[in-house]
Order: sequence, then structure tokens, then C-alpha cells
Amino acid sequence: MHRRPDEVSIEDEDHIVSAELSKEFPGARCPYTVKGLEGLDPYPHYDRMREYGDIVWYEGMKAWLVLTADGCRRMMQNDVSRLRFWTADLSDEAKEIQGRRGLKLATGEYHYKLHSWWVRQFAATGIEPFREPGIRPLVHNLIDRFIERGKVDLIEEFAALLPVRAVCVIMGLPWQDDAWVDKCFQTMKPIEQFFNYSSVGGDDIMQAARAAANKMNQTLMPFVEARRNAGGAGDGADMITRLWRDGPGLRSDWNTEDVVTNVRHLFFAGSETTVHSLASALNVLLTQPEIKEQIRAVGDKGIPNFIEEVMRLYGPVQFRSRKANEDIKIEGVLIPKDGAVVSAQGAANRDPKKYPNPNAIDLNRRAPRDHIAFNTGPRTCVGASLARMEMQEAAKALLERLPDLRLDPQAPRPTLQGFQLRAFAPIKALFTPGRKSG
Ligand code: HEM
Repeated sequence: MHRRPDEVSIEDEDHIVSAELSKEFPGARCPYTVKGLEGLDPYPHYDRMREYGDIVWYEGMKAWLVLTADGCRRMMQNDVSRLRFWTADLSDEAKEIQGRRGLKLATGEYHYKLHSWWVRQFAATGIEPFREPGIRPLVHNLIDRFIERGKVDLIEEFAALLPVRAVCVIMGLPWQDDAWVDKCFQTMKPIEQFFNYSSVGGDDIMQAARAAANKMNQTLMPFVEARRNAGGAGDGADMITRLWRDGPGLRSDWNTEDVVTNVRHLFFAGSETTVHSLASALNVLLTQPEIKEQIRAVGDKGIPNFIEEVMRLYGPVQFRSRKANEDIKIEGVLIPKDGAVVSAQGAANRDPKKYPNPNAIDLNRRAPRDHIAFNTGPRTCVGASLARMEMQEAAKALLERLPDLRLDPQAPRPTLQGFQLRAFAPIKALFTPGRKSG
């Protein structure tokens, strides 16, 4: 198994912190590490690290870790231009599997154009048309599957099923066809395994990922081809139709591969992240029952603000790594060309300089969306509004339809699991059985 290019390991001998730097920056001597925190609560450790400075040297990653909200924002302002994304250093084979013509491998001016296009598609006018006819019925359909039973595994039977189907909804793919969705989901697994959050797999895993990427392309192709001349107008059209409609304005040689690769990238980017975020939101609802009352007290903004606080406190993406394209100063520290710097999003979102009472849920914060759980800067998450819609609709429907939803006392308690991607699991719950929706 070889490392993903953005993961800097302890074996790397370059970028050692010099004695001089160590004198200048207390952060260069930070004795705390996030190593070994897999499956443990990392937040007290981030606080201890922050005592050494806004940016600290982390020997385990041989990288500088930016721990503050403003620092991470400033760092990401340099993204794409002076800092590079992990995909830039992938091998040719890995680039082929990732798909050369999608957002993940796009750089420079083309990345800007394509990213801006996606941001417009996910802006309120672009995404709201999917809420009532698409995401809401999907959420109710999933609840109908277990509502008469009085017990549910909220991760396996709900959180894990929603995001991949939500991507199908916006793409105009058959979300009601469980067999088809399951085929897509299973096909994605070897690719996810290859590009997992801490490493890039070895040759055997690469072969499986290549086969899976081909299979995924073949699965999507009939839908992509069928929409080629659909010519859908306005924001009501599904995203595949919009890709065909606007693609030639993004690049003159726009073709089927562009459409398929972009669809595939959204499947990946929008699935696991949202599953984990939803799991953490459900965990908070079930383990802090007073939150339900607070949501009601806040009124219309109650659920949206609750979701933002969950993202701030438990956003699943803990770190985003970059390498420097040139010598660059970040928070006063010189990161040498090809040196690594990490935005510690999980730490930044609890930065006490930015958030009063940072570890508590507060549904009345002045700017609830002012966190970086979806990152910030040129590579900020394009699908944040879809993820928000899914989580809001899920929380609303569960609160309305299963008012006494509670943790199953016989089941193991949820714990915070994972490392780069973190979320609570398992979440097994009981409730008074209800009726299926019409
Ligand atoms: C709550 C769920 C989600 C979280 C926490 C999340 C988080 C993130 C983060 C942190 C990034 C930046 C990665 C980096 O800069 O290294 C990102 C990028 C991205 N996200 Fe999301 N995301 C979520 C849901 C979605 C959804 C639903 C979609 C689309 C269906 C999506 C599509 C993307 C894409 C395409 C990018 C790449 C942007 C680029 O490279 O230019 N995400 N996401």
C-alpha cells in the first residue's frame, strides 16, 4: 500500500523543523499529536495543541497544522494557485481512475470555471426545485420502510441510504430502484477503498478500482447518452441535462466523458460525507433531548441552525491537506515549496477566538453558517446546499413522524469513530410505531 500524495508520513525526512524556527514559533515544539486518536474524541487534543499557537508543527504528519478559523480561511485563499490539491500528485493510473475531466483533477482557470458553474447549480434557485418533488418524498419513503416496526438502525436503514439516492434525485437517476442504486453504491466501494482518506491502495486495489470505475461509467452511460439532446430549460432540469446544456460553454471539446466524470465525482463527494454528517446530527438529537425543545423555541430557523451547529461541532471532515507550489508564508510560518500544510477544520470550527462557548450547541449564533465544515476558498464544497437540504428534511420528518424517537437502551451507545472522517456510530433507536405516509 502506498500513501496518498497528501498524506505526509513519519518516514519523510524533509521538512524537519529547524532549531531556529523552533525558537521563533512555540507551535514548532508542540508535543501534542493527533496520532492514535482514531475512534477517540479529538477535540480536547486540538485545544491543547492550540495553546502552542495558531499553527503547530505536527511531527506525525511532517506538516504544519492550522488550528484557527481565520488561519484556515487565510490558508485556503491560496488554494489552487499557491497550494495544490492531493490529486495533482497522483500517478497516471490513479488519475485515470479518478477521471481526468472532472472537478477533482481540474486546475487553474478551468477549475475556476467548472467549480463556479457547479456552485451556481447548487445555489438556492438551482437546488430548491429538487426539495419538494424529490428530497422530501425520498426522506419519507425511507422512513416508511421502518415506521411500522418501532425500532430502527438509523445508520444502516436511514443515514446510509439517503445521500446516494439524493444525488440520484438531482441527476435524474432512478432513486426508487433499490437494485440499481445498490449496484452503483457497491460499484463505488473499490474506488473509495483505493482513494481512502489516509492512503492510496496498492496494485491489487488499483486493479479493482479501475474495473469499478469502468463499471460505474457503463452504469451511468445510458442515462447520460439519453439526456444528450434533452435540451432541458431553466433550473428545473436535472443536473445531467444541465451538464449537456451548459458544458460546451465550459470547454469547447465537451463530451460524454466530461458528463460521466462529473456525475461520478458528485456521487463520491456527496455520499460518505453526508452519511457521516447525518449520523452525527441524529446522535445529537438522541443524546441531547433538550435540543428538540430548543429547536421548537427558535421557530423556522430552528432546524437549519441546528444542522449548522452539528456541522460546526461534528463536521466529519477533520483535515484538508495541501502542498505548497512555491515558498509561501502561512500564519507567519514559511512553508517551503512542496512542504505540507493542513487545515484542521475540526479544530478551527471550535476556535474560542471565533466562537463564544465553542463546544456548546447554540441555535442563536449570530452567523450560524460561518464555519468551515464544507471548507472555504476556491475548492469549497459545491454540494453543501444539497447536504443541508437532506439533513434539514431528515431532521424535520423524523421529529414530526417519530416524536418519541430514542436510543435503544439495549444497544451499544454511539461513539465518535474514524480519523480524517469522523462520525458517531452505531445509532440504534426505538419509537412508537406509526403509519406509512399515503
Ligand atoms: C455534509 C456533507 C458534506 C461535507 C461535510 C462536505 C465537505 C466537503 C469539503 C470539506 C470539501 C473540500 C475538500 C478539499 O478542499 O480538500 C468538499 C468538496 C466537494 N464537495 Fe462536499 N461535502 C458534503 C456534501 C457534498 C455533496 C452532497 C456534494 C454533491 C452532491 C458535494 C460535492 C463536493 C465536490 C464536487 C467537491 C470538490 C470541489 C472541488 O474540488 O473543487 N459535497 N466537500
